[in-house]
Amino acid sequence: MNVPLYEKIWMWASGGIIVAFVATVLVTGIGGALQPPSHVETIDPTKVFTDPRFAHPGVSVDANGATVVAFGMMFGFTPGEIRVPAGKPVIFRMTSADVTHGFLIVGTNANTMLVPGYVSQFTTVFKQPGEYLIVCHEYCGLGHHLMAGKLIVEAAKP
Ligand code: CUA
Repeated sequence: MNVPLYEKIWMWASGGIIVAFVATVLVTGIGGALQPPSHVETIDPTKVFTDPRFAHPGVSVDANGATVVAFGMMFGFTPGEIRVPAGKPVIFRMTSADVTHGFLIVGTNANTMLVPGYVSQFTTVFKQPGEYLIVCHEYCGLGHHLMAGKLIVEAAKP
């Protein structure tokens, strides 16, 4: 079979693009660990305020790092201001008391959905002390654009 040179180039280029796309999915999904949280912890969204896991939202700090317990609700986060130490692991445990909200700390890799009925948990480290904006990035109603909070990352005390 006689395949002209230009046709061969296009065939190899098309094949190469497919390989590149599949490789991108594999590298980011497996290598980069960009996966949705796999553990499924459930909660009754109508009982968030009385559930012992969320009855006292706030930050607890110990020698190993900090744990943030928070929830989203139209149209704000509780607590609205979160203070954590820099350079230590921070565990976020969050849920929603009504509809689906988003939780994005701008300029960091902290980014999750708050889905009613589920507890979202992730751990991250904030290296850079400072003030960060927290926004809801899932459309949740008329006040969605007002739904914001503040993260304050405090430098370790000498
Ligand atoms: Cu909450 Cu958008």
